[in-house]
Amino acid sequence: MQQQRYAQITGWGKYVPDKILTNHDLANMVETNDEWIVQRTGIRQRHIRTEKDTNTSMAVAASKEAMTVAGITANDLDFILVCTSSSDYLLPGAGSTVQAELGAACGAVQLVAGCSGWAYGAAMASSLIQSGTYSTILVVGVEIVSHGLDYTDRSTCILFGDAAAATVFQVTEEPSGVLSFELGSDGDKAKSLWVPYGGSSQPINQSVVDEGRHFIEMDGQEVFKFASKTVAASLKRVIAQAGLLPDDIDLFIPHQANARIIEAGARLMRQPKDKFYMNLDKYGNTSAASVPLAMVEAIQEGRLKQGDKVAIVAFGAGLSWGAAVIQLGAGEISKAHSLFSLGHAKYLAKRTRETVLDTAQNIILPIAMRFSGKRK
Ligand code: COA
Repeated sequence: MQQQRYAQITGWGKYVPDKILTNHDLANMVETNDEWIVQRTGIRQRHIRTEKDTNTSMAVAASKEAMTVAGITANDLDFILVCTSSSDYLLPGAGSTVQAELGAACGAVQLVAGCSGWAYGAAMASSLIQSGTYSTILVVGVEIVSHGLDYTDRSTCILFGDAAAATVFQVTEEPSGVLSFELGSDGDKAKSLWVPYGGSSQPINQSVVDEGRHFIEMDGQEVFKFASKTVAASLKRVIAQAGLLPDDIDLFIPHQANARIIEAGARLMRQPKDKFYMNLDKYGNTSAASVPLAMVEAIQEGRLKQGDKVAIVAFGAGLSWGAAVIQLGAGEISKAHSLFSLGHAKYLAKRTRETVLDTAQNIILPIAMRFSGKRK
Protein backbone atom coordinates (compact mmCIF):
# COMPACT_ATOMS: atom_id res chain seq x y z
CA MET A 1 0.00 0.00 0.00
CA GLN A 2 1.29 3.46 -0.87
CA GLN A 3 2.30 5.57 2.11
CA GLN A 4 0.40 8.81 2.76
CA ARG A 5 2.58 11.85 1.98
CA TYR A 6 2.61 15.02 4.09
CA ALA A 7 4.39 18.35 3.45
CA GLN A 8 6.51 19.31 6.45
CA ILE A 9 8.36 22.59 7.00
CA THR A 10 11.98 21.56 7.56
CA GLY A 11 13.83 24.84 7.03
CA TRP A 12 13.27 28.55 7.64
CA GLY A 13 15.27 31.73 7.25
CA LYS A 14 14.88 35.48 6.94
CA TYR A 15 16.58 38.57 5.61
CA VAL A 16 15.77 42.06 6.79
CA PRO A 17 17.48 45.16 5.32
CA ASP A 18 19.65 47.21 7.69
CA LYS A 19 17.96 50.55 7.14
CA ILE A 20 15.23 51.44 9.63
CA LEU A 21 12.54 54.04 8.99
CA THR A 22 10.82 55.03 12.24
CA ASN A 23 7.47 56.74 12.69
CA HIS A 24 9.43 59.84 13.72
CA ASP A 25 11.36 59.74 10.42
CA LEU A 26 8.05 59.55 8.55
CA ALA A 27 6.70 62.50 10.52
CA ASN A 28 9.47 64.55 8.90
CA MET A 29 8.32 63.42 5.46
CA VAL A 30 4.49 63.58 5.60
CA GLU A 31 1.85 65.03 7.91
CA THR A 32 1.70 62.24 10.47
CA ASN A 33 2.98 61.43 13.93
CA ASP A 34 4.21 58.49 15.99
CA GLU A 35 1.19 58.52 18.31
CA TRP A 36 -1.34 58.29 15.45
CA ILE A 37 0.53 55.49 13.70
CA VAL A 38 1.03 53.44 16.89
CA GLN A 39 -2.59 53.88 18.01
CA ARG A 40 -4.17 53.10 14.64
CA THR A 41 -1.78 50.37 13.44
CA GLY A 42 0.66 49.21 16.16
CA ILE A 43 3.61 49.92 13.85
CA ARG A 44 6.65 51.74 15.27
CA GLN A 45 9.22 51.25 12.53
CA ARG A 46 9.85 49.37 9.30
CA HIS A 47 12.98 48.19 7.46
CA ILE A 48 13.65 49.64 4.03
CA ARG A 49 15.93 48.21 1.34
CA THR A 50 19.35 49.75 0.92
CA GLU A 51 21.29 50.10 -2.33
CA LYS A 52 22.77 46.62 -1.97
CA ASP A 53 19.36 44.94 -1.62
CA THR A 54 17.39 43.60 -4.55
CA ASN A 55 14.30 41.41 -4.50
CA THR A 56 16.51 38.52 -5.63
CA SER A 57 19.39 39.14 -3.21
CA MET A 58 16.99 39.33 -0.26
CA ALA A 59 15.15 36.16 -1.33
CA VAL A 60 18.45 34.33 -1.81
CA ALA A 61 19.82 35.36 1.62
CA ALA A 62 16.67 34.08 3.35
CA SER A 63 16.64 30.91 1.21
CA LYS A 64 20.26 30.02 2.00
CA GLU A 65 19.50 30.25 5.72
CA ALA A 66 16.38 28.09 5.27
CA MET A 67 18.28 25.47 3.26
CA THR A 68 21.02 25.33 5.90
CA VAL A 69 18.44 24.69 8.62
CA ALA A 70 16.84 21.97 6.45
CA GLY A 71 20.26 20.44 5.80
CA ILE A 72 19.91 20.61 2.02
CA THR A 73 21.65 22.34 -0.87
CA ALA A 74 20.15 23.96 -3.98
CA ASN A 75 20.73 20.65 -5.82
CA ASP A 76 18.09 19.03 -3.61
CA LEU A 77 15.33 21.42 -4.65
CA ASP A 78 12.60 20.05 -6.93
CA PHE A 79 10.75 23.35 -7.30
CA ILE A 80 10.93 27.00 -6.24
CA LEU A 81 7.97 29.29 -5.60
CA VAL A 82 8.85 32.95 -5.08
CA CYS A 83 5.84 34.82 -3.71
CA THR A 84 6.23 38.51 -4.45
CA SER A 85 4.61 41.51 -6.13
CA SER A 86 7.88 43.45 -6.37
CA SER A 87 10.19 41.33 -8.54
CA ASP A 88 13.38 42.88 -9.90
CA TYR A 89 11.98 42.91 -13.45
CA LEU A 90 8.60 42.69 -15.15
CA LEU A 91 10.16 39.79 -17.04
CA PRO A 92 11.65 37.34 -16.15
CA GLY A 93 9.75 36.65 -12.96
CA ALA A 94 11.39 36.29 -9.57
CA GLY A 95 11.29 32.48 -9.79
CA SER A 96 13.97 32.48 -12.47
CA THR A 97 16.21 35.16 -10.92
CA VAL A 98 16.20 33.38 -7.55
CA GLN A 99 16.75 29.94 -9.14
CA ALA A 100 19.76 31.26 -11.09
CA GLU A 101 21.32 32.97 -8.07
CA LEU A 102 20.89 29.85 -5.92
CA GLY A 103 22.35 27.67 -8.67
CA ALA A 104 19.36 25.33 -8.50
CA ALA A 105 18.46 23.08 -11.41
CA CYS A 106 14.68 22.91 -11.10
CA GLY A 107 11.48 24.65 -12.16
CA ALA A 108 10.83 28.01 -10.54
CA VAL A 109 7.98 30.45 -10.75
CA GLN A 110 6.83 33.78 -9.32
CA LEU A 111 3.50 33.78 -7.53
CA VAL A 112 1.67 37.12 -7.36
CA ALA A 113 -1.07 37.17 -4.73
CA GLY A 114 -0.23 40.36 -2.83
CA CYS A 115 0.11 39.88 0.90
CA SER A 116 -1.58 36.45 0.63
CA GLY A 117 1.38 35.25 -1.47
CA TRP A 118 3.12 32.94 1.00
CA ALA A 119 -0.18 31.38 2.13
CA TYR A 120 -0.91 30.55 -1.52
CA GLY A 121 2.67 29.26 -1.93
CA ALA A 122 2.45 27.02 1.13
CA ALA A 123 -0.85 25.55 -0.07
CA MET A 124 0.50 24.90 -3.55
CA ALA A 125 3.78 23.43 -2.27
CA SER A 126 1.88 21.14 0.04
CA SER A 127 -0.39 19.96 -2.80
CA LEU A 128 2.54 19.33 -5.13
CA ILE A 129 4.26 17.28 -2.42
CA GLN A 130 1.18 15.35 -1.31
CA SER A 131 0.34 14.44 -4.92
CA GLY A 132 3.77 12.83 -5.30
CA THR A 133 4.92 15.34 -7.95
CA TYR A 134 7.79 16.80 -5.90
CA SER A 135 9.53 16.07 -2.59
CA THR A 136 11.40 19.29 -1.74
CA ILE A 137 10.08 22.77 -2.46
CA LEU A 138 11.43 26.19 -1.51
CA VAL A 139 8.70 28.76 -0.82
CA VAL A 140 9.93 32.33 -0.44
CA GLY A 141 7.97 35.44 0.55
CA VAL A 142 9.90 38.57 -0.40
CA GLU A 143 8.95 42.19 -0.96
CA ILE A 144 10.44 45.57 -1.68
CA VAL A 145 7.12 47.32 -1.05
CA SER A 146 8.92 50.63 -0.52
CA HIS A 147 9.55 50.75 -4.27
CA GLY A 148 5.80 51.01 -4.93
CA LEU A 149 4.96 53.56 -2.26
CA ASP A 150 4.23 57.25 -2.62
CA TYR A 151 6.02 58.81 0.36
CA THR A 152 3.74 61.84 0.10
CA ASP A 153 0.65 59.67 0.71
CA ARG A 154 0.29 59.22 4.47
CA SER A 155 -2.55 56.72 4.07
CA THR A 156 -0.19 54.10 2.59
CA CYS A 157 3.48 54.95 3.23
CA ILE A 158 3.23 54.48 7.00
CA LEU A 159 2.05 50.89 6.71
CA PHE A 160 4.62 48.94 4.73
CA GLY A 161 8.22 47.70 4.96
CA ASP A 162 10.66 45.45 3.08
CA ALA A 163 11.79 41.93 4.06
CA ALA A 164 12.26 38.34 2.91
CA ALA A 165 11.54 35.00 4.57
CA ALA A 166 11.95 31.52 3.17
CA THR A 167 10.70 28.07 4.06
CA VAL A 168 11.62 24.59 2.84
CA PHE A 169 8.76 22.11 2.51
CA GLN A 170 9.72 18.42 2.37
CA VAL A 171 7.81 15.18 2.09
CA THR A 172 7.29 13.17 5.27
CA GLU A 173 5.20 10.14 6.16
CA GLU A 174 4.63 11.46 9.66
CA PRO A 175 1.06 12.91 9.83
CA SER A 176 2.07 16.57 10.20
CA GLY A 177 2.89 19.62 8.11
CA VAL A 178 0.07 21.34 6.24
CA LEU A 179 -3.08 19.77 7.73
CA SER A 180 -5.60 22.00 5.95
CA PHE A 181 -5.77 25.17 3.88
CA GLU A 182 -8.19 27.57 2.25
CA LEU A 183 -7.53 30.05 -0.55
CA GLY A 184 -9.93 32.81 -1.55
CA SER A 185 -10.31 35.74 -3.89
CA ASP A 186 -12.87 38.52 -4.19
CA GLY A 187 -11.76 40.27 -7.37
CA ASP A 188 -14.77 42.60 -7.30
CA LYS A 189 -12.93 44.52 -4.59
CA ALA A 190 -9.68 44.73 -6.58
CA LYS A 191 -9.62 48.52 -6.72
CA SER A 192 -9.54 48.89 -2.95
CA LEU A 193 -5.86 47.91 -3.03
CA TRP A 194 -4.11 48.19 -6.36
CA VAL A 195 -1.49 49.78 -8.58
CA PRO A 196 -3.66 51.15 -11.39
CA TYR A 197 -0.95 51.99 -13.92
CA GLY A 198 2.10 50.16 -15.18
CA GLY A 199 0.43 46.99 -16.47
CA SER A 200 -0.51 46.28 -20.09
CA SER A 201 -4.04 47.63 -19.62
CA GLN A 202 -2.97 51.07 -18.43
CA PRO A 203 0.69 51.56 -19.30
CA ILE A 204 2.87 54.18 -17.69
CA ASN A 205 3.32 57.48 -19.47
CA GLN A 206 4.58 60.87 -18.36
CA SER A 207 1.22 62.12 -17.07
CA VAL A 208 0.75 58.92 -15.03
CA VAL A 209 4.14 59.53 -13.41
CA ASP A 210 3.39 63.23 -12.88
CA GLU A 211 0.15 62.31 -11.09
CA GLY A 212 1.88 59.51 -9.11
CA ARG A 213 -0.63 56.88 -10.23
CA HIS A 214 2.03 54.20 -10.65
CA PHE A 215 2.09 53.81 -6.85
CA ILE A 216 -0.02 51.64 -4.54
CA GLU A 217 -3.52 53.10 -3.99
CA MET A 218 -5.69 51.88 -1.15
CA ASP A 219 -9.11 52.39 0.39
CA GLY A 220 -7.93 51.71 3.95
CA GLN A 221 -11.36 51.40 5.52
CA GLU A 222 -12.65 48.99 2.85
CA VAL A 223 -9.57 46.77 3.32
CA PHE A 224 -9.93 47.02 7.09
CA LYS A 225 -13.57 45.80 6.95
CA PHE A 226 -12.68 42.97 4.57
CA ALA A 227 -9.71 41.87 6.70
CA SER A 228 -11.49 42.02 10.05
CA LYS A 229 -14.25 39.77 8.68
CA THR A 230 -11.93 37.39 6.81
CA VAL A 231 -9.31 36.67 9.49
CA ALA A 232 -11.60 34.92 11.99
CA ALA A 233 -13.94 33.38 9.40
CA SER A 234 -11.20 31.69 7.38
CA LEU A 235 -9.28 30.63 10.51
CA LYS A 236 -12.41 28.94 11.88
CA ARG A 237 -12.91 27.07 8.59
CA VAL A 238 -9.33 25.75 8.27
CA ILE A 239 -9.23 24.73 11.92
CA ALA A 240 -12.50 22.78 11.53
CA GLN A 241 -11.23 21.27 8.27
CA ALA A 242 -8.17 19.97 10.17
CA GLY A 243 -10.54 18.33 12.68
CA LEU A 244 -9.43 20.69 15.47
CA LEU A 245 -10.85 23.36 17.75
CA PRO A 246 -9.38 26.88 18.14
CA ASP A 247 -8.15 25.86 21.62
CA ASP A 248 -6.02 23.12 19.98
CA ILE A 249 -3.97 25.76 18.14
CA ASP A 250 -0.71 26.60 19.93
CA LEU A 251 -0.01 29.83 18.07
CA PHE A 252 -1.87 31.94 15.51
CA ILE A 253 0.31 33.66 12.92
CA PRO A 254 -1.77 36.35 11.23
CA HIS A 255 -0.71 38.71 8.46
CA GLN A 256 1.06 41.63 10.15
CA ALA A 257 -0.99 44.49 8.67
CA ASN A 258 -2.60 46.18 11.64
CA ALA A 259 -2.70 45.30 15.37
CA ARG A 260 -6.38 46.27 15.51
CA ILE A 261 -7.26 43.73 12.78
CA ILE A 262 -5.30 41.04 14.66
CA GLU A 263 -6.91 41.88 18.00
CA ALA A 264 -10.39 41.78 16.41
CA GLY A 265 -9.49 38.35 14.99
CA ALA A 266 -8.48 37.11 18.45
CA ARG A 267 -11.72 38.44 19.98
CA LEU A 268 -13.89 36.79 17.32
CA MET A 269 -11.99 33.52 17.79
CA ARG A 270 -12.48 33.83 21.59
CA GLN A 271 -8.74 33.32 22.00
CA PRO A 272 -6.29 35.23 24.22
CA LYS A 273 -4.55 38.09 22.42
CA ASP A 274 -1.10 36.70 23.24
CA LYS A 275 -1.83 33.54 21.22
CA PHE A 276 -1.78 35.81 18.15
CA TYR A 277 1.86 36.44 17.26
CA MET A 278 2.81 40.03 16.40
CA ASN A 279 6.05 41.58 15.17
CA LEU A 280 4.52 44.38 13.11
CA ASP A 281 5.82 46.98 15.55
CA LYS A 282 9.33 46.25 14.15
CA TYR A 283 8.58 45.58 10.49
CA GLY A 284 5.18 46.98 9.50
CA ASN A 285 3.38 45.13 6.74
CA THR A 286 5.95 43.31 4.61
CA SER A 287 3.28 41.89 2.29
CA ALA A 288 4.14 38.36 1.06
CA ALA A 289 7.06 38.18 3.53
CA SER A 290 4.87 39.02 6.53
CA VAL A 291 3.53 35.59 7.59
CA PRO A 292 6.73 33.60 6.96
CA LEU A 293 8.82 36.30 8.68
CA ALA A 294 6.53 36.09 11.72
CA MET A 295 6.78 32.29 11.68
CA VAL A 296 10.58 32.36 11.46
CA GLU A 297 10.80 34.80 14.37
CA ALA A 298 8.30 32.81 16.45
CA ILE A 299 10.50 29.73 16.00
CA GLN A 300 13.71 31.66 16.72
CA GLU A 301 12.19 33.17 19.88
CA GLY A 302 11.18 29.72 21.12
CA ARG A 303 7.46 30.52 20.84
CA LEU A 304 7.06 27.40 18.69
CA LYS A 305 8.34 23.91 19.42
CA GLN A 306 8.19 20.59 17.66
CA GLY A 307 4.70 19.16 17.33
CA ASP A 308 3.02 22.56 17.78
CA LYS A 309 0.00 23.40 15.65
CA VAL A 310 0.08 26.80 13.98
CA ALA A 311 -2.83 28.51 12.23
CA ILE A 312 -1.76 31.12 9.68
CA VAL A 313 -3.94 33.63 7.88
CA ALA A 314 -3.11 36.27 5.28
CA PHE A 315 -5.10 38.77 3.22
CA GLY A 316 -4.29 41.43 0.69
CA ALA A 317 -4.49 42.69 -2.88
CA GLY A 318 -7.02 40.86 -5.00
CA LEU A 319 -8.66 41.16 -2.63
CA SER A 320 -7.38 37.73 -1.71
CA TRP A 321 -6.87 35.62 1.37
CA GLY A 322 -5.30 32.35 2.43
CA ALA A 323 -5.27 30.37 5.66
CA ALA A 324 -3.77 27.08 6.78
CA VAL A 325 -3.18 24.86 9.79
CA ILE A 326 0.38 23.57 9.92
CA GLN A 327 1.77 21.13 12.47
CA LEU A 328 5.50 21.35 13.01
CA GLY A 329 7.03 17.90 12.85
CA ALA A 330 9.64 16.16 14.89
CA GLY A 331 12.19 18.41 13.18
CA GLU A 332 15.10 20.16 14.74
CA ILE A 333 13.38 23.31 15.92
CA SER A 334 15.20 23.61 19.21
CA LYS A 335 18.57 22.76 17.68
CA ALA A 336 18.20 24.55 14.38
CA HIS A 337 19.40 28.01 15.44
CA SER A 338 22.84 26.80 16.29
CA LEU A 339 25.42 26.94 13.55
CA PHE A 340 26.40 23.46 14.68
CA SER A 341 22.90 22.07 14.33
CA LEU A 342 22.19 18.70 12.78
CA GLY A 343 20.81 20.59 9.79
CA HIS A 344 24.07 22.47 9.35
CA ALA A 345 26.11 19.26 9.67
CA LYS A 346 23.92 17.60 7.01
CA TYR A 347 24.36 20.69 4.82
CA LEU A 348 28.16 20.60 5.19
CA ALA A 349 28.25 16.88 4.44
CA LYS A 350 26.22 17.42 1.26
CA ARG A 351 28.38 20.35 0.16
CA THR A 352 31.52 18.25 0.71
CA ARG A 353 30.07 15.34 -1.27
CA GLU A 354 29.12 17.69 -4.13
CA THR A 355 32.57 19.30 -4.16
CA VAL A 356 34.25 15.88 -4.24
CA LEU A 357 31.99 14.74 -7.09
CA ASP A 358 32.57 18.00 -9.02
CA THR A 359 36.34 17.65 -8.61
CA ALA A 360 36.21 14.03 -9.76
CA GLN A 361 34.10 14.90 -12.79
CA ASN A 362 35.85 18.09 -13.89
CA ILE A 363 39.49 17.47 -12.95
CA ILE A 364 40.30 13.83 -12.14
CA LEU A 365 38.19 12.25 -14.91
CA PRO A 366 39.59 14.39 -17.79
CA ILE A 367 43.19 13.76 -16.58
CA ALA A 368 42.54 10.01 -16.29
CA MET A 369 41.02 9.96 -19.77
CA ARG A 370 44.02 11.80 -21.24
CA PHE A 371 46.43 9.33 -19.66
CA SER A 372 44.46 6.29 -20.74
CA GLY A 373 44.31 7.78 -24.29
CA LYS A 374 48.13 8.28 -24.31
CA ARG A 375 48.73 4.69 -23.18
CA LYS A 376 46.77 3.37 -26.14
N1 COA B 1 -1.31 60.21 10.11
C1 COA B 1 -2.14 61.05 10.74
N2 COA B 1 -3.45 61.14 10.42
C2 COA B 1 -3.91 60.34 9.43
C3 COA B 1 -3.07 59.44 8.75
C4 COA B 1 -1.72 59.41 9.12
N3 COA B 1 -0.82 58.57 8.54
N4 COA B 1 -3.79 58.77 7.84
C5 COA B 1 -5.05 59.23 7.94
N5 COA B 1 -5.13 60.18 8.90
C6 COA B 1 -6.29 60.92 9.36
C7 COA B 1 -7.40 60.99 8.32
O1 COA B 1 -7.19 62.05 7.43
C8 COA B 1 -8.61 61.15 9.17
O2 COA B 1 -8.70 62.49 9.57
P1 COA B 1 -10.13 63.21 9.70
O3 COA B 1 -10.85 62.44 10.77
O4 COA B 1 -9.77 64.59 10.11
O5 COA B 1 -10.78 63.10 8.37
C9 COA B 1 -8.30 60.34 10.41
O6 COA B 1 -6.87 60.22 10.46
C10 COA B 1 -8.91 58.96 10.39
O7 COA B 1 -8.65 58.36 9.12
P2 COA B 1 -9.14 56.91 8.76
O8 COA B 1 -8.77 56.60 7.36
O9 COA B 1 -10.59 56.79 9.18
O10 COA B 1 -8.25 56.05 9.77
P3 COA B 1 -8.38 54.56 10.15
O11 COA B 1 -8.65 54.43 11.58
O12 COA B 1 -9.29 53.83 9.21
O13 COA B 1 -6.92 54.04 9.89
C11 COA B 1 -5.68 52.76 8.30
C12 COA B 1 -6.38 54.08 8.56
C13 COA B 1 -5.09 52.81 6.89
C14 COA B 1 -4.56 52.60 9.29
C15 COA B 1 -6.69 51.59 8.45
O14 COA B 1 -7.85 51.86 7.71
C16 COA B 1 -6.13 50.29 8.00
O15 COA B 1 -5.19 49.77 8.58
N6 COA B 1 -6.73 49.66 6.96
C17 COA B 1 -6.26 48.40 6.45
C18 COA B 1 -5.10 48.66 5.54
C19 COA B 1 -4.28 47.44 5.28
O16 COA B 1 -4.08 46.62 6.14
N7 COA B 1 -3.78 47.36 4.06
C20 COA B 1 -2.92 46.33 3.64
C21 COA B 1 -3.65 45.06 3.48
S1 COA B 1 -2.60 43.81 2.92
